[in-house]
Amino acid sequence: MPREIITIQAGQCGNNVGSQFWQQLCQEHGISQDGNLEDFATEGGDRKDVFFYQSDDTRYIPRAILIDLEPRVINSIQTGPYKNIYNPENFFIGQHGMGAGNNWAAGYAAGESVQEEVFDMIDREADGSDSLEGFMLLHSIGGGTGSGLGSFLLERMNDRFPKKLMQTYSVFPDSATGDVVVNPYNSLLAMRRLTQNADSVVVLDNGALTRIAADRLHVQEPSFQQTNQLVSTVMSASTTTLRYPGYMHNDLVGIIASLIPTPRCHFLMTAYTPFTGDNVDQAKTVRKTTVLDVMRRLLQPKNRMVSITPSKSSCYLSILNIIQGEADPTDVHKSLLRIRERRLATFIPWGPASIQVALTKKSPYLQNVHRVSGLMLANHTSVATLFKRIVVQYEKMRKRNAFLEQYKKEAPFAEGLGEFDEAKEVVTGLIGEYEAAERDDYLDPEMGKERAESS
Ligand code: GTP
Repeated sequence: MPREIITIQAGQCGNNVGSQFWQQLCQEHGISQDGNLEDFATEGGDRKDVFFYQSDDTRYIPRAILIDLEPRVINSIQTGPYKNIYNPENFFIGQHGMGAGNNWAAGYAAGESVQEEVFDMIDREADGSDSLEGFMLLHSIGGGTGSGLGSFLLERMNDRFPKKLMQTYSVFPDSATGDVVVNPYNSLLAMRRLTQNADSVVVLDNGALTRIAADRLHVQEPSFQQTNQLVSTVMSASTTTLRYPGYMHNDLVGIIASLIPTPRCHFLMTAYTPFTGDNVDQAKTVRKTTVLDVMRRLLQPKNRMVSITPSKSSCYLSILNIIQGEADPTDVHKSLLRIRERRLATFIPWGPASIQVALTKKSPYLQNVHRVSGLMLANHTSVATLFKRIVVQYEKMRKRNAFLEQYKKEAPFAEGLGEFDEAKEVVTGLIGEYEAAERDDYLDPEMGKERAESS
């Protein structure tokens, strides 16, 4: 029985990323732009119903809800080539059409007024599935809608669907460009909800995505369409074990259980190799890919999709490599031995030091340029350095009371700036948790008590 997943995409980034993700899934499963199964796509063996359901006329419809407070991106989806695949009842555009002005508080406050309509959609989708496993939220945390309305939804979904899993694909802002000047405020406030209300967060940051596009794909100043192609590749690869199931990791709970040993440390980073894509011609270099080659590259910092600064003590809590293509299990075994001999990955001192590997199929309907490709999903303590950067940038701005007026006007700040203080406390606690996880006494009950007292 497939375990269905409902995708909620919020804001500009969430909807842009989402529309590429659906395009990719349609291509992988042989679903046409109108939702019909292509004549060549009858081979089966895949589970389309995790992400799609079939309408009365047997067309495949994504289990997707598209939300924005301004119409531009959703309108472009509604007029784009895949406009017919979505359920037209699942688009929600805010009545005023003004967006949240890059203000988390405006997005969060809008949540209160739009919740009835949005939850009607979510409930309808949930009721329409047989065995719902959970939700995936696609959003950015640096703006207003994806970040603020996304935070609101995360909180309420926890109350409404306490037994369902909540996974997010969260795009962090590029700390170097700061295209949204108040992104540290928005990011910190959203981080609190990602910490408290999500089961698993796949962290992607625009800084790293731009770097990968430049270094690996030779595209200077990539467009969002190009960086989103990287994101949708990661999303599709990270869901292959659900869509082409084998013995293990064939539901979300299995993936999360293997990657997240303690509930708070649930922020995952990714690496992918080798990249190919319609939009990135330069990436289509001809190269012989082997399992060892792919597994080694996945551990290289330059292939990571987050900008982190590992220290001497930072280490992996867990790694799951999803290897797609022609991979022989004995090659995997040899590669794991080689990685261990060369000490290419350092693990926590208090748990098993193992790289888990899932071998999965590639879509038979897409031209595969590479024999083997791989995605690494990793839980690494140095992800906390990304959060530290957000706290430092937040403190700089807060000290100067910079841009606070626009937040004070919104309902979440009507009583004062306590929201900020609480968010900072939660994020600082999270950073402390990752730092503690680097020590061998992490599971010591005494230390647990100390941590509880200090957080
Ligand atoms: P408002 O515009 O305030 O209503 O909120 P929003 O959620 O629609 O904002 P948006 O998603 O534009 O959030 C801004 C952040 O997202 C910035 O860090 C942007 O760099 C990033 N961003 C926006 N669109 C995209 C996209 O298509 N891809 C990627 N990778 N990042 C994006």
